[in-house]
Amino acid sequence: MKITDLNNVAVIGAGDMGHGIAELCALNGYNVYLKDIGQKFLDRAKNRIRESLNILARKGKLKDDNIETVLGRIIPTLDYKQALENCGLVIEAVPEIMSLKKSVFIELDFNLPKSAVIATNTSNMSITELASQIKRSSQVIGMHFFNPVILMKAIEIIRGNDTSNETMKFAEDFAYSLHKLPIPVLKDVPGFIVNRVLAPSSVLLNKIIEKKIATSNQIDANFRKIGQPMGPFELMDYVGLDIYKHGADYFAQKIDPEFKSPKWVNDLINEGKLGKKTDYGIYDWSSGRPTINLEDTTEKVDSKDLLLVQVNEAAKLIENGVVEYPGDIDLAIQNATGNVSGIFWLLKNDREYLINRLNFIADEMGVEIFRPIEFLKEMTIPSARKALKARKKKRKEQENQKNNK
Ligand code: 3HC
Repeated sequence: MKITDLNNVAVIGAGDMGHGIAELCALNGYNVYLKDIGQKFLDRAKNRIRESLNILARKGKLKDDNIETVLGRIIPTLDYKQALENCGLVIEAVPEIMSLKKSVFIELDFNLPKSAVIATNTSNMSITELASQIKRSSQVIGMHFFNPVILMKAIEIIRGNDTSNETMKFAEDFAYSLHKLPIPVLKDVPGFIVNRVLAPSSVLLNKIIEKKIATSNQIDANFRKIGQPMGPFELMDYVGLDIYKHGADYFAQKIDPEFKSPKWVNDLINEGKLGKKTDYGIYDWSSGRPTINLEDTTEKVDSKDLLLVQVNEAAKLIENGVVEYPGDIDLAIQNATGNVSGIFWLLKNDREYLINRLNFIADEMGVEIFRPIEFLKEMTIPSARKALKARKKKRKEQENQKNNK
C-alpha cells in the first residue's frame, strides 16, 4: 500500500481516541468510515467532532474547508463490511481488552481489501500478539495517538515482530500526511515509549498517596508550578482511570508485579468514578476542568523524583534498542504530553547524586523497579534537538529519492 493511493480510512471505535482520530483524518482530506457498536456512540462522537471543529473554525484553522465539508467526509456506520470494503487503512481504537481486540482483528482481516494496512491504537499491548491472529501480520502496525488527538503532535509508530519495512514507511507517511510527528518504536515492548516511561512515576505517586506523604492536589499544584499543563493526577482522570488501570495491570503481568494498579484507584473505578468521562474520579469534573488549589503545594515531595524514575525507565528502553535515536524519548514526551522540557535535562545534574537518589527512593518506598540500572551511569545525555534534526534530514532524503525516481 502506498500513501498516494490512500483515500479511504476506517476507524473502529468512536470513543475518546476514535472520534479524535476520525476528526483528524477528515481534517486532512481523507474519507473516514467511523464504526462502533451502537448508534448512540456514533451520535455522541459526531457531536464531539462538531464541537471541536467549531473551535478550529473560530480560530481560522480549517484552511479551505468549512465544518460541513469536514463532517461530510465522516461516514458513521454500524457495519464492518461497509466500513472496511473500500479502505486502504484501518485504525482500531476499541477498549483495551486483548480478547476484544483479537476478535475485531479477525473481522478486519476478513472484510478489508488484501493490500490494506491494519493499525492499532493500543496504548500498551503487544502488536505482535494481535497480528498473530491473522495472515497479513506483515501489514499490522501500532499507531499510538495521544489524547486529545487533535492537539497532541506525536504518534508512536510501533513495529511488531512481523511488520514489514513497507508498512513502517506507510504508517510514517500517513502520520506526516496528518501533520503529526511520527516517532518510530523499533521493538514491541509493553507501553512503547511514552506510557512506559511514565509508568514508574505512577507507581511512585501511588506510594506517596498510600503512605499519606502528600495529597493529589498538592502534587498536581507542584507540577503546575513548574509549568506542566496538567499535574499527574489530573492527567490520570483526563485519560480515564479505567485506561490507567488496564495499562498498570498489563505492565504488572508483562514486566513486573510492582506496576499493579493500587487499591485506591480500583475502589474509585468500582464506584463508577472513572475521571473526566463520568464527571467524577480523583477530582470533580462536573463543571469542566477541576479546580486545583495552586497554593496548596508541598515540600515533602520533590517533583524531580518523579522525573528521575522516568529517566531510569527511559535508559532501559535505550539500552534495549527500542528507539531509533535516544533523543526520540524526549521528543515523544514533549509532543505527546506537553512537557516541553522533557526529562533528560536531569542528567545534566550530578550523575552520582541521581544514582544515589534512585537507590534511596527504591529503599524508602520498597520498590525495586526504581533501582538505577548500570547503563544509566555511562549513557550520554540524549538530545531531542539532535533526534529531530536527524529525523528531518532522513525525511528530506526520502522525499528527494522519491522525486528523482
Ligand atoms: N479541538 C480543538 N481545539 C481544542 C480542543 C479540541 N477538542 N480542546 C481544546 N482545544 C483548544 C482550546 O480551544 C485552547 O485553545 P487556545 O489556547 O487558543 O484558547 C487550547 O486547545 C487549550 O485548551 P484549554 O484552554 O481548554 O485547556 P488547557 O490549556 O488546559 O489545555 C490540554 C488542555 C491541551 C489537554 C493540556 O492540559 C495538556 O496538554 N494536557 C496534557 C495532555 C496529555 O498529557 N496527553 C497525553 C495523555 S497520555 C495518552 O493519551 C496515552 C494514551 O494511551 C492513554
